[in-house]
Order: sequence, then structure tokens, then C-alpha cells
Amino acid sequence: MKYGHFDDINMEYVINTPYTPLPWINYLGENDMFGIISNTCGGYSFYKDAKLLRITRYRYNNVPRDMGGRYYYIKDGDSIWNPGFMPTKTPLDSYECRHGLNYSSFDSSKNQVEAKLTCFIPLHTNAEVHILKISNHSKEEKKLSVYGTCEFCLYNAVDDSNNFQRNYNTGEVLIDDHSVYHVTEYRERRNHFSFFYVNEKISGFDSDLDTFIGPMGSWEMPKAVKEGKSFSSVASGWSPIGALRNDLVLKPGEEKTLVYVLGFVINPYEEKYTKGGKINLIRAKELIKEVDSEKKAEDKLQELKEYWKKLMNIFHVSTPDDKFDRQANIWNQYQCMTTFQMSRSASYYESGIGRGMGFRDSCQDILGFVHLIPDKSRERILDLAAIQSEDGSTYHQYQPLSKKGNADIGGGFNDDPLWLVACTSAYLKETGDFSILDEKCAFDGKSPDKTLFDHLKASIFFTLDHKGPHGLPLIGRADWNDCLNLNCFSKYPGEPFQTVSNYESHKAESIFIAGMFVKYGEEFSDICFHLGKDELGKDVKDQVENMKKAVVNYGWDGEWFLRAYDAFENKVGSKDCSEGKIFIEPQGFCTLAGIGEKEGLGKKSMASVKKYLLDDYGVELLSPCYKSYHLELGEISSYPPGYKENGSVFTHTNPWVIIAETKVDNNEEAYDLLKRIAPPYIEDKSEIRRAEPYVYCQTIAGREAPHYGEGKNSFLTGTASWSFVAISQAILGVVPTLDGLKLDPHLPEEFKEVKIKRIYRGSTYQIHIKRVGKKSIAVDGRPVDNNLIKIEPGKNTYNIEMTI
Ligand code: GLC
Ligand code: GLC
Repeated sequence: MKYGHFDDINMEYVINTPYTPLPWINYLGENDMFGIISNTCGGYSFYKDAKLLRITRYRYNNVPRDMGGRYYYIKDGDSIWNPGFMPTKTPLDSYECRHGLNYSSFDSSKNQVEAKLTCFIPLHTNAEVHILKISNHSKEEKKLSVYGTCEFCLYNAVDDSNNFQRNYNTGEVLIDDHSVYHVTEYRERRNHFSFFYVNEKISGFDSDLDTFIGPMGSWEMPKAVKEGKSFSSVASGWSPIGALRNDLVLKPGEEKTLVYVLGFVINPYEEKYTKGGKINLIRAKELIKEVDSEKKAEDKLQELKEYWKKLMNIFHVSTPDDKFDRQANIWNQYQCMTTFQMSRSASYYESGIGRGMGFRDSCQDILGFVHLIPDKSRERILDLAAIQSEDGSTYHQYQPLSKKGNADIGGGFNDDPLWLVACTSAYLKETGDFSILDEKCAFDGKSPDKTLFDHLKASIFFTLDHKGPHGLPLIGRADWNDCLNLNCFSKYPGEPFQTVSNYESHKAESIFIAGMFVKYGEEFSDICFHLGKDELGKDVKDQVENMKKAVVNYGWDGEWFLRAYDAFENKVGSKDCSEGKIFIEPQGFCTLAGIGEKEGLGKKSMASVKKYLLDDYGVELLSPCYKSYHLELGEISSYPPGYKENGSVFTHTNPWVIIAETKVDNNEEAYDLLKRIAPPYIEDKSEIRRAEPYVYCQTIAGREAPHYGEGKNSFLTGTASWSFVAISQAILGVVPTLDGLKLDPHLPEEFKEVKIKRIYRGSTYQIHIKRVGKKSIAVDGRPVDNNLIKIEPGKNTYNIEMTI
């Protein structure tokens, strides 16, 4: 069953009922200010950091689930409704929500009044703009009251939701003919404020929540709206809101547009107050002036759309499969942008007050994002490197505002360092900008003379310096699988699984990290050779060979790769185990890294994946699921069977298998797996999957779960990046390398002809692949015998004809 459809031309998903199984959300913003918005207008906005600078209030874990939002009320006689349906839930005569690339629009009608609301954040602007167009399609004049509303958060979202003894005293606002300014705590330590503005002079206002909604009231039917009034309340303590009323008279056929601005302003300390000692609002007025008419606002929206068109033009494919194209050209890349911006901080499942930016998460997010905005990737790589220590270990997370490592969780996740090599290598292959390696970058604030190259080296040697009894990498607190806690032993409720202790067994080893080391050790040695550091390159290459041997000797279980050795040197993920016999991660990563190629291990491993782990929605993380808690394994066995790390389709790992399948030339299997996981292919099962049909979820409940097929934790998942790598590089075979673009497609049989446009290092590559049963490549009509397309300086366009 579907609840909408894709509109590929406009790059939108169109939802035609507010009754989606879960809130279906979208993101606004591309720079500093961001918003989350659902298909019923729920969500919130924040500046840079969803924890410390939350602009509007949202109540997670609420009933109904999605409460708090950009709520517009239209009062038309006795009928009171919202263009986004919530919160009045008044049945609408028509409803449509379109989630586009960083904007969402709602088009609804009731009693022949139509409301079109479009929400977006203009490029490089610290404000959400909401354009509300109201038209009267009836034959009579309509007298309407329109209320634009928002509920302010007192900035620190954690404090806002628990420190009521203070917070009910601090709220302060200023009001003028168009706006409510939220200036809580401005009198002392804050030099920022937010505001809610409408471009028409208001007919009335409220700024105190309790007054607006009335005794025992709610957003569902605020007293003021019900009575068609405003109470001119000026918030003093309690909960400040912006509720702006505009009374409109619309003749038959008439349309009227209101432009609302939810803005955020930071004043320089010296300009906090005007000479007269008043709060300096000049920056707010300037901001407002940029968008205070329909024309100005529409122009900004157009600019945003153009920006996205340009981004989506960097990589564009056309194959015989529409769903493949839709995923590759629009939604996968869009999700890559979102994960790059948010890491795992703010979604409907990540409350924005928990963790900051994950180290490994952000490193991996770059893999699918770097072609879109290389400069932002560059900056991110240097920020990430800055939380690494000289021995190569890294903090596991950092806060986006301070860019400092998060001391609560610390480090000790032994896969983390290698991800820095992964993203830097991806950056170098995309851009050829080796200067990044010379950038000065201190280790955790110490040794300022060190360069990024020193960091990569430290990452590689961290793995080499932390090997266990079988010569395999020690796992530490956990590797990519945060829930495989082989040294932690968490016994009591409330104890963190990962940090309760770190019993350094010096025995628990990870075959997954071994696979990573082979892959990224090789990439690091390529970088060394490229820089003329041959000795180091050779040395690391030898170590890579040793690691391969160690995996073949001690990491192979007969039909598949083992997962790990635990602190007591017992095998994890082996046919000898009673539960958790086979895990996905080492099958994907060791095979894609080419371990055991000669011995044919990859083919066997992939066959076992198919036999034991493949379900209708992808490849499950492990099988059989753990039925009881294993102290020596940790959080993984704390989840009920089929959920999260305990045997769901943990989607992030599936592109590794897709890439691995292409590595052993199982092209049909690779395509088949993509079709099981990529959202457009399962849109018609939306009642089962329940989550948004345009983005990946972190997990899809596995066969052992009661809700088999249900998706959770949508949007912020490393699946986005890896899936884009799998689609663009493994299946379509457009592979950036240090020396230029290489073509190595692994297309399914049914792709007889494929056209790809790729902008790469400033030149456009037009690639045309035809299946004729014979391999050849010609560049601009000249046959070449190498699939690495030689870079010719000054050349703008490469026309490539390839046959397979
Ligand atoms: C979550 C974490 C990620 C981890 C994965 C598997 O997605 O953000 O860092 O690798 O779970 O445990
Ligand atoms: C929990 C989750 C895991 C996630 C981790 C992040 O362990 O199960 O998926 O990576 O938290 O802190």
C-alpha cells in the first residue's frame, strides 16, 4: 500500500493523506540553521546544535507522537483547520504534502478556501520562511482569521525540558506590529535571540502559551482561535510563544499571501544593546528585509531549488530502471547531504540532545557526500582529525558547536581511527587535492606542528600496535557494531553497555577491523606511493599481506568469515556457536577488501550470506538471533530477536554486501539486494515498512521479530553514504581514484544501455555504456585500452563510449 507517490520532475515525494503510519519527515536548511518538518507540519528548528541552540520547542515521546510544530490555524466561521491537518485534525476537503529537497509544502482546502504553505530556509540565511497563500474559491466573500504560531524553546533543549523551577521565571519577549521577539536570558549571558514575524501588520497577538490556549487547553484547539480573538498576552516567565493573528477579507476568487519568518540573530557582544540601552534588533530587521514580500520570498525559494538542481547535476544516471534512477539521482544523494549535516544528532529518533557527531559516522558520511561539496568535506575531515590522539586513538563523538571530543563517552572503539583514512582517501580520489595532507592539525590540542598525514599514519599504526593472540586487531569497547561489547560486561540496568568498564582482555579480536585494515591499509599505502614515501608504503603493504594471512588462517570458519574472538578467546559468529553463528559485517568487508581471493573465500562467504541471512528486505545482521543476554557479548544480545543489532536488517551493512557481490562478479545478486533495500522499490509496502518511502532506515525488523519488515530510525544512517558508493562505484562502476576516473561497471543483465553524467575534478564525463557482449572503451572516438580515463589538463568534456 502507498500513501503517496514520487514526482521525479520536481524531485519531490507527494503524500496524499495526513494519516501516514508514522510522521514522515523532511529537513530544512543547508548551512547553519536547520529544521525538521513532518507531513503534518510538526517538528522544530535549531541553529547549528539541536541541543544547545534549539529555537522552537518539541516534545519527544509525546501523545500524539508528533507534537510541536509550525502550526497555522485558519478560522472560517465555525470551521477551524490547519493546512497541515495537525493539530486541530479537522477533516480537510483536500490535503497534499510535498517533501522536496530542503523544502516542504502543503496544499489543503476546506469549504472552498485553499491554503498553500511552503516552508524552507533560504540559502545561507538564519531563518525559516513560511509562505502562506490563501485563496477563496467560493462565490461569497470570506472573512477569515489566520493565526501563525510557534512555541519557543529556551535554547538549551535539555534544560528546557527539565529545569522548570528556573525556566518558568525567565521567559521574556518583545512585541511590535509584526513580530514577537523571544529574548529570554538576553539580559544576562545570551547575545542571541529569535523572532517570529509576519509581513502584514497584525490584527492581534499572544505570546504567553497558557493565555493563548486557555485553562486546560492545548494546541489542538487554542482558546484564542476558538473565540476568534487574541488576548495581547505578553509572556513573562512560563512558556513564550509567537501567535500572530491576521484578519483577512477575501472576495470570491481572491488570493492573499502572508510571509512568515522564524529567525535567529546573534549580536556581536559590543552591539548587544543600542545606545539607548535597548535590545539591538537591527540584525533582525535586516534579515526580515531580505524576505518580507511574496516576490522576495519566492525568489529565495527559487534560488534554493536552483542550488539543488546544480548539486544533482554532478552525478546523473539513466538506466532502464526508473526506480534505480530515482534512488541514484535524487533521494540517495539527498539523504547523503542530510547525514553529512546532522550526523546522528537530530531526527525523529535522535532527540538532538543525546550524542553529538559520531566520529565513525561522520567519516563514513563523507564517502557519499564528497562529490557534492568537497570543500565542506575537507573542513569536516580536519575537524574530525583534531579529536584524535597521538597514539592514533580517537574520541568517539564530538559536539558540533565546540568541536571538542566528548569526554563522557571517550574513546576505545578500535575501528574509529581507520575511518579517518577511509574518508581522507575518498576526498583525495575525488579532488586530487593532496594539499589537505599538509594541513597543520594538532593531536587533541597538542603538537600543533603535526599534519593530517601524521594522523593517517597514526591511524594505521594504531591497528598494528593493537593486535591480539591471532595477529588480528583488538576490538576495544566495540568496533563498527557498537553493541558487540566484548570487553565491557554490563550487568545492571542503567549501566552503559559500552563504557561501564573496559576490561582490557588483550584477547578480544575483530575480524571486521581486520577487513577494514586490509582495505584502508592498501589505500594508505597507495597514498604513500603517490607522495613518493615508498618505504612507508611498502612497509604498510607488507602489513596488509600479513593481515590477510591472519584472516585466512584464523578468521575463516569453513563457509564464512568469523566475526570475532571474545575476551576468553572463544569464537563469535561461528558454526560452533548455538546462536549468532554468522554475522554480516566480516562477510561484506573482508570480501570487498579482497581477502582470500585466491582461495575463493569471497564467493563462499556470499553464498552463505544468501543462505542464512537474506530476507525479503535485505540481509540480516546475524543469525540465529540471540534469545538470551550474553554478558560476554554485551548490548547486541540485549535487543529482542530481530531488532537492531540483534538480527534486523541493519541496513548500513547491506551496501557492503552489494559491493562485495560485485567484487566476486555476482552482478545479479548485487542488483537484487539493492532492490530489496532501496526505498523506491518497497514504496508499495509502506503499510508494513511504515517509515518514509524516500529514505533508508537504519533498521528493518528481521524475520525473528514480531513486526517483520517494519523500519525504524529513518534518515540518519550510514546506509545513505555506503549505498551511494555501492550504486555509483560498484554497480555503475564510476570509480574515482587517485589518478582519475576509472570505469568498472557491474551491471545486471537487464541493463542493456546506461548513460551517466559525472562532473569530476571540474570536467564533465559523459559516459555511454552498451551491452554488446564485447569489451571496449573509446574516449572522444579514440579507442583506449585502459579503463582508467587519463586526465588531460584543460579538457572540459570527455565523451566516453564503452561496450561490455
Ligand atoms: C549506529 C551508530 C554507528 C554504529 C551502528 C552499529 O548506527 O551510529 O556508529 O556503527 O549503529 O552499531
Ligand atoms: C546503541 C544502539 C546502536 C548505536 C549506539 C550509539 O548502542 O543500539 O545502534 O550505535 O547506541 O551510541
